[in-house]
Amino acid sequence: MRVLGIESTAHTASVGVVDETAAVLANVTDMYRPARGGIHPREAANHHVELFPDLVANALRTARVGPDAIDAIAFSQGPGLGPCLRAGATVARTLSLEWERPLVPVNHCIAHIEIARALSGLGDPLLLYASGGNTQIVAYGHGRYRVLGETLDIGVGNFLDKLWIELGGSFPGGPALEADARQGTTLHPLPYSVHGMDVAFSGLLTAAIQLHRQGVPRPDVALSVETTAYSMLTEVTERALAHRGHGSVVLGGGVACNERLRTMVRTMAEGRGATMFAPPRSLCVDNGAMIAWTGLLAVRHGRTIPVEESVVLPRQRTDQVEVPWRN
Ligand code: ATP
Ligand code: FE2
Repeated sequence: MRVLGIESTAHTASVGVVDETAAVLANVTDMYRPARGGIHPREAANHHVELFPDLVANALRTARVGPDAIDAIAFSQGPGLGPCLRAGATVARTLSLEWERPLVPVNHCIAHIEIARALSGLGDPLLLYASGGNTQIVAYGHGRYRVLGETLDIGVGNFLDKLWIELGGSFPGGPALEADARQGTTLHPLPYSVHGMDVAFSGLLTAAIQLHRQGVPRPDVALSVETTAYSMLTEVTERALAHRGHGSVVLGGGVACNERLRTMVRTMAEGRGATMFAPPRSLCVDNGAMIAWTGLLAVRHGRTIPVEESVVLPRQRTDQVEVPWRN
């Protein structure tokens, strides 16, 4: 079985093809990068509409298959930016009708989790899903992924992106801030906001901007911010591990690309006798392969929808979706 997946929740338009062994046959991506400031939803959607025909053709070429070898079309149903979601859903509906293949809706957050879990080979890990819009500690229980802890305000990636733009950079901020932090030498104290298994970043954002205005060099701001934010994430992950007794933790989402975060979580996990896994970076950031893979899991359980019911759900949460393949 082969599934083609369409990703378009925010900045990235991507088309992936996977088979039932979770082999990634294609994962073709193009990211919208605003000239300045954050993402403009309408502009991002226009970017996706323009790029998708080529991305689909390219994905089939890379996978060395024709439409007849594709068994289902999966798409990101939510959460995400309305115009961007609609751009991807329109492409998915069109392919479904044209190729006469079933349409499968996929939750974007669960897709980040499932591709990471598949590659890890771990059956029931604890999951730290750290990305642009979301920051959640997740574990499976009774038919759904349960959110044990999460951000109380903005996602850690959005926090890094906003800060980087305030410091004079452009989107995306996470990778640039990581490079800058490597040049940092002095740690400055910043607000550390952990509430049980939840975290918050807005106070940290304000304080970090203030620190830079006081004349602290950008690499030192970056170093201090990464240290504080990733310590917070590591602490809540450790708390969840301690309470739930999982023997492993798996990282997913764009911020899981970060080497510092990977090292901190790995060190914590290994100190507790647990293992840690993070996927290759191309499968941490938004990608069509994760949508295709989660679509494949869903289609095996008959989770297809008719085109006329294939609405997008911009606010759909991780814990609102049934995951029958985990039973
Ligand atoms: P969500 O999954 O919550 O909808 P998203 O889809 O917008 O978020 P992803 O592609 O999953 O985003 O992640 C993008 C985020 O990852 C951006 O905020 C980006 O700055 C961040 N990011 C990417 N690489 C790194 C890195 N090396 N270090 C830190 N952050 C990073
Ligand atoms: Fe994402």
